[in-house]
Amino acid sequence: MQVMLLGTAAGGGFPQWNCWCPACALARSDPARARPRTQSSVAVSADGRRWFLVNASPDVREQLARLPLPSPPAGGSRLTRHVPIEGVVLTDAELDHSLGIALLREARRLRVYATAAVSDTLERDSRLLPVTRAFADVAVTELVLTVPVALHLTDGAESGLTVEAFAVPGDPPRFASGNLAGHTVGLLFRDGAGATCAYVPACGALDDSLLARLACASLVLFDGTFWSADELVALGIGDRRAQDMGHVPIGGLGDDGTRGGSLERLATLPGWVVYTHINNTNPVLIEDSPQRSAVEGAGLTVGEDGMRFTVPATGAGERRASAAEHRSPTVVVR
Ligand code: MLT
Ligand code: MN
Ligand code: ZN
Repeated sequence: MQVMLLGTAAGGGFPQWNCWCPACALARSDPARARPRTQSSVAVSADGRRWFLVNASPDVREQLARLPLPSPPAGGSRLTRHVPIEGVVLTDAELDHSLGIALLREARRLRVYATAAVSDTLERDSRLLPVTRAFADVAVTELVLTVPVALHLTDGAESGLTVEAFAVPGDPPRFASGNLAGHTVGLLFRDGAGATCAYVPACGALDDSLLARLACASLVLFDGTFWSADELVALGIGDRRAQDMGHVPIGGLGDDGTRGGSLERLATLPGWVVYTHINNTNPVLIEDSPQRSAVEGAGLTVGEDGMRFTVPATGAGERRASAAEHRSPTVVVR
């Protein structure tokens, strides 16, 4: 299984257009010390040629240009237009994960995989599905919680991948009229050889059962929105704490900002763990920050746009992708 991080910033991207917090200011003045990032999205493929988009961000246009996509087969005029992705899988209906659906409206056909709670919000609240359907035929395949679903290629063949959605703690989007189970999920992608990748870009708490679920994955892409619980409060740009926004902070929940965060729990997992959906205020975005050192010192990775992973099949001695592999220039596409 191949996985590419298309975007690793939270909503607003990095730097965020209206923000001059220390990290955003550095991303503008010295981008080598705080690399700009687009809004969170991932692509997953069984064969490295045909890709599923996981979340459709407002940056989808430039993100798709990163993928090593096949050219359309040579031939008649009906092939002039060619949709190079096989489908869109969603974790939630937040704007940063779904606005890209409308931006893909030039596709004649689009298949979306989402829970009933997520598709309800896209149908009734944001209306992104009805808006997109004015331009394209959008079919939704329901993801029932904890049931693996086969992902199909646009020609109907099996892709070799399955996806299983599981509910994670958190709140539905602010504009959602309901609060149904499955409004926010993590996803487990598996291939026929047993390679497993977990994608959990939004998660309000990390309890033992969730940790046990993530333990089966050789690659875990996890919510790195905030370093500390009071990050926005301390910067004077918000009054809600991380967990009030459905994001468990990396560093900690306590007022000392050091204990009970995702870092110490994820560091116990056997798989390779990469933070993504990183908010522009998060000091881990600064390459030489103590927070970045803490993440890397614990053996975890701060995700960057263009990182590409080959996810190994589950098996003795090869459960974890190697650092050398993902840092190799032949594998990391920038
Ligand atoms: C979130 O991750 O909490 C949401 O995307 C917030 C937002 O869209 O403003
Ligand atoms: Mn978000
Ligand atoms: Zn900022």
